[in-house]
Amino acid sequence: MKLKYSLITRRTFLNTLLFGWVAAFFSGTFYALMKFAFPTLGKEPDFVVFDKKDFTNLPKNSIKRFPWGGTVGLYFTKADGSILALKGVCTHMECNVDYKPAEKRFYCACHQGWFDENGKNISGPPPKPLETFVVTREGEKLIIAKKGVKVELPKA
Ligand code: FES
Repeated sequence: MKLKYSLITRRTFLNTLLFGWVAAFFSGTFYALMKFAFPTLGKEPDFVVFDKKDFTNLPKNSIKRFPWGGTVGLYFTKADGSILALKGVCTHMECNVDYKPAEKRFYCACHQGWFDENGKNISGPPPKPLETFVVTREGEKLIIAKKGVKVELPKA
């Protein structure tokens, strides 16, 4: 069936095309400027350093979130008192995971992915375990680092 008249005018079509092109141009330019101005923005660090006192007295079977680059890290005190630090990002499609104290498991709500208390994937679509970090204490500092990264803090 052929319409007797057009649903949009030529002017509207060309204006929409021009506006889309201008918007794409400026958003690309803005992105490039931001990457130039802040080259480390969103990059993952090799390690982070915190005051130890901020992480002591954490109740057993609970987590404390910490910033890990542009994502989140989870400092976890297990029910037996041992500690673990993990990257709080699901290995399936990078949604943030949460800890469910009642089940003692980590949960990704995006596609119902589950990880045990050591970060091992146990059900759902996640293909591999959560990334775990190495936790060390040095004086009053707590260092959370990627595996294999050697951290030496400057002497005060
Ligand atoms: S992103 Fe976590 S299960 Fe899909």
